[in-house]
Amino acid sequence: MNKPDSTLFSSIPKDASDVLNSFDELVQHTLPLNSRQLYQVPENVRKLSHLLTDDRPARRVGYMNEAAALSAYIRYFMWWNLVRLTPLFAGFAGQAGALSQLKDDDVCLDCGSGPLTVPIALWLGCPELRKKKLTWYCLDLSQTALSQGEDLYTAVAARTAASTPDQQLWKIIRVKGAVGTEIKKKAAFISCANMFNELFWNAEQPLEQLVKKYSAQILSYAEPAAAVLLIEPGVPRAARFVSLFRDALIRKGFSVLAPCPHAGACPMDGRKGGKWCHFVLETDDAPSHLKKLSAAAGIPKDRASLSFVFAAKSSDAAGVPADTKKAAPEQTKQLKLRVVSDAISLHNKTTGRYSCSEMGLTLAIAPENALSSGDLVFAEAQKKPDLDRKSGAVKINL
Ligand SMILES: C[S@@+](CC[C@H](N)C(=O)[O-])C[C@H]1O[C@@H](n2cnc3c(N)ncnc32)[C@H](O)[C@@H]1O
Repeated sequence: MNKPDSTLFSSIPKDASDVLNSFDELVQHTLPLNSRQLYQVPENVRKLSHLLTDDRPARRVGYMNEAAALSAYIRYFMWWNLVRLTPLFAGFAGQAGALSQLKDDDVCLDCGSGPLTVPIALWLGCPELRKKKLTWYCLDLSQTALSQGEDLYTAVAARTAASTPDQQLWKIIRVKGAVGTEIKKKAAFISCANMFNELFWNAEQPLEQLVKKYSAQILSYAEPAAAVLLIEPGVPRAARFVSLFRDALIRKGFSVLAPCPHAGACPMDGRKGGKWCHFVLETDDAPSHLKKLSAAAGIPKDRASLSFVFAAKSSDAAGVPADTKKAAPEQTKQLKLRVVSDAISLHNKTTGRYSCSEMGLTLAIAPENALSSGDLVFAEAQKKPDLDRKSGAVKINL
């Protein structure tokens, strides 16, 4: 089979991997803990992990204002988030044009910014953006998280100054408040990562109703031609939220840039018992100190998964993901597949991976190890689809 046309997670710049590999040192240098506090980090990570996953009702809304929790978040969760978001953003830089269209003096908004994880991952993953004079409004309930995040951003920028001599330090405007708080300027780019699950998890209203409310709030911040990036953990309920948010964006005239290879109905929408759209980044190459901290905290994390949608309102994208635009006109009979799931062993040393295409749920059949979660591949569209009996997916041999 042909090599995948592109993949979601790209290789990252050398200076970015240097920062990620020694992020613990950068944090300790910027926000030092004494040896007693350092000793307590694994235990605090373990406690916070429960509060963020299986013990959500016990979490206080302002948990990021508590020193031990914030320090555990920065030293563990933020680090993991940077490890998975930086290659994702590096992939966007090459594929989804909306980022490269950001220009000097544009305003960006990061909602639920915490310690500025998204701006820092964009800085690391997209060196071209470092050269643009951007203003970032960073919105969060926790002023302390924002202020420590700003210190970390400045420390990261100091580390990349030698490799990007013409970099422009972004202007950071910290806004303490809940999503919906008024922001003075309209944004050309809006991001929200790992925030909405804190709002919808224990909510009584149906997700559909919540998405209506929150998408309206997010879009009220947007310039007429803005890009919106929503990222949540790769679990079914969060993926359902993301899929509904995608529908809301499409209804408002946005084109999905990634990960969807089409603008039709989402075939992995996370409804109960069904498949959910999420992507897994193998973590073999994760920083060794981060893996050690995972082990010390008793959280074996060998994979990092996420669900996301990146969409933009621009006249030329028109429902076609930017990374597929290079398909020549004669390739229009080809089907674009976004590989989503893990491999399932089939006969003859082939494997199947559930994928997404304009035909709906698709099972991409390929030699072992030929595909990875997130790959985008082109295939011949078959006139008479052959359906997988178990899942109803359209089988495509690559
Ligand atoms: C899990 S952290 C994510 C931080 C960062 N975006 C990241 O991906 O690492 C969630 C953040 O959302 C913030 N948050 C929770 N509810 C919020 C709300 N209603 N409005 C604004 N921020 C909120 C929390 O204070 C916390 O900093």
